[in-house]
Amino acid sequence: MPSTQAPSEIADALLAWYDRARRDLPWRAKPGEIADPYRVWLSEVMLQQTTVAAVGPRFQRFLARWPTVRDLAAAPDDAVMAEWAGLGYYARARNLLKCARTVTERHDGAFPADEAALAALPGVGAYTSAAIAAIAFNRIATPVDGNIERVTARVFRIETPLPQAKPAIKAASVSMTPEDRPGDFAQAMMDLGATVCLPRRPRCLVCPLAHFCAALAAGVAADLPLKAPKPEKPLRQGTVYWATRPDGAVLLRRRAPKGLLGGMVELPSFGWSDDDAPEAVRQAAPIWRDAGATVGHVFTHFRLELTLKLGEANGKPAPDGCYFERLGDPAAHGLPSLMQKAARLAAKSG
Ligand code: ADE
Repeated sequence: MPSTQAPSEIADALLAWYDRARRDLPWRAKPGEIADPYRVWLSEVMLQQTTVAAVGPRFQRFLARWPTVRDLAAAPDDAVMAEWAGLGYYARARNLLKCARTVTERHDGAFPADEAALAALPGVGAYTSAAIAAIAFNRIATPVDGNIERVTARVFRIETPLPQAKPAIKAASVSMTPEDRPGDFAQAMMDLGATVCLPRRPRCLVCPLAHFCAALAAGVAADLPLKAPKPEKPLRQGTVYWATRPDGAVLLRRRAPKGLLGGMVELPSFGWSDDDAPEAVRQAAPIWRDAGATVGHVFTHFRLELTLKLGEANGKPAPDGCYFERLGDPAAHGLPSLMQKAARLAAKSG
């Protein structure tokens, strides 16, 4: 039981398991090597919204293009936004650039090691600052992501529902953090959560912490952590326009820099964020055909459904703020996932 075991025994058991079973991930230093703070920072930002499997190749590509924080700081905004396409939460990509520029200009290209100094960087919150301090600098810090939350709630049998349980979970996780290997401890907790302490079917038979786990002892491991019910997200509806020219070019526009999908290239879409379709876009084709299908996406605060309209452009110049361009592969073109879905659907319907 956790209350009777020294937290250091838990950390020792976990680290012994990690030394045998650690995942080999592209942003991780090899055992005994020091991780590059730039790689740790970039991976942590990417991993906040995307799975480890999906991040792998995207991380490698990003790093090949901008190998150091100075390279990233010097990159044009549009190139970074396009490289981020499909990873979602585009405000993070804008903050990524701001952070790279701050580190380059104010910290001479070197990430600070201190958790508080890291937390002062643009877009670096409590989780990311603790993760970088621990993983890249081996500072005593305790990042708590979803995996760590689950492992900790179970080991300590914390039965308060989330999100109210967060402070108790953080305190319990801090109490287990070892002084000598805090970075490995954090990554070991992440790996345990991802491969053993699974959300619905925890593999307690092979768990190195089974002996310490209060939830397992009580037969409730699979039920924790409890979650307070979330209110359903409201639905917003709008229209997305696919206008093609005979040469295959498609009408595109770049969204305003701030706000939803800010700064991203899209098929012109209206009625769901803060604008209505200007008459000029509706006039870009003489007839609009309803594709008879919608594309959807779930944003943080609402669900979105866009009706797809197809039209053949009438030969006039593109409306203000828009342009015609051949699209090729929508993913390679830097379209956000929602717009990639719309483009694929239009190509099938056309
Ligand atoms: N999820 C978030 N950060 C991670 C990391 N550093 N290693 C593995 N999984 C993670």
